[in-house]
Amino acid sequence: EKGGYASFMLKEIAEQPKAVADTLLGRIDGSGSLMLDEVRIPANVLREVDKVVIVACGTAFHAGLIAKYAIEHWTRVPCEVELASEFRYRDPILDQQTLVVAISQSGETMDTLMAVRHAREQGAKVLAICNTNGSTIPRESDAVLYTHAGPEVAVASTKAFLTQLVACYLVALYLGQVRGTKYADEIRAVVRDLASVSGAVERVLETMEPVRQLARSLAGKDTVLFLGRHVGHPVALEGALKLKELAYMHAEGFAAGELKHGPIALIEDDLPVVVVVPSPRGRSVLHDKIVSNIQEIRARGARTIVVAEEGDDAVVPYADHLIRVPVTPTLLQPLVATVPLQVFACELATARGNEVDQPRNLAKSVTVE
Ligand code: BG6
Repeated sequence: EKGGYASFMLKEIAEQPKAVADTLLGRIDGSGSLMLDEVRIPANVLREVDKVVIVACGTAFHAGLIAKYAIEHWTRVPCEVELASEFRYRDPILDQQTLVVAISQSGETMDTLMAVRHAREQGAKVLAICNTNGSTIPRESDAVLYTHAGPEVAVASTKAFLTQLVACYLVALYLGQVRGTKYADEIRAVVRDLASVSGAVERVLETMEPVRQLARSLAGKDTVLFLGRHVGHPVALEGALKLKELAYMHAEGFAAGELKHGPIALIEDDLPVVVVVPSPRGRSVLHDKIVSNIQEIRARGARTIVVAEEGDDAVVPYADHLIRVPVTPTLLQPLVATVPLQVFACELATARGNEVDQPRNLAKSVTVE
């Protein structure tokens, strides 16, 4: 049932374009309005929401970190993101005007479930973003938006993550639609961009051979660092998590702006550092800053592995290895930028002789706190 692939993980990475497209399917009407009837929280309740709190674990938490940028930018509603395991024990401030979004592939993660229960006890409304029909978290939530990734078997999440991002963007747009901060034509434009991302992910997958070669050449390394800014920061965290889970390597993700406040001390000769570069279009200040960061680490000996948009020439002189991703609006870039990092981790793990579908010590869904 691996469909000719050597592992479920490779199969699931390859299924991502379809998973993304399926998660969008039927959720927008001809006039460009989102049809999320499945989100049974009434519009008048959503209009009253004055704070969004996202709770999740692991990879789903990284989807939440990215969602915050979209929610705040498109709706102007403040959004916090918290690890589900931390949320409940710090007495968070919640009331009827709080919308809690719980993201979980399995719908069974105990930490996330406990966060959902706590939020509802405090009177907050809970919306689940979940991949598993009828699982516990959606059953205990006020509403659910299902991701349509299909069953995910490999322990390390790949296609579910991309569909969680799509679902988060849809929730952000829907909140904007209901609250009047996003109008049909703008929603239609973003949904059109989202729809074309599926093809962009396909193109990324077709260009992964150099990434696989690079990964194999790094199999003897102990540490890989990941840097990003804005939505590239959670992408860096996710790239590092994948490498920990699969390759059992020391990997850390940092906000590139934090480099000078500590992590730059880690840079030594030939240390691989993956840098996720935002689009040079749009908020170009972000791009210029990260190009300086690449120069800084390279001057200190780092081996730079640069993930940058096609046509971004500014990074070329400073990239020891260049991974190109298609041109994508900044907020949506994680959908394409994450894919090479998944392939990188999967190949590196395989080169180190690890079993990628069942990494040691991990379980697909953790039903204890
Ligand atoms: C971990 C899995 O234990 O749970 C991760 O190994 C996953 O891959 C995390 O991201 C959260 O799981 P879920 O099902 O709540 O999304």
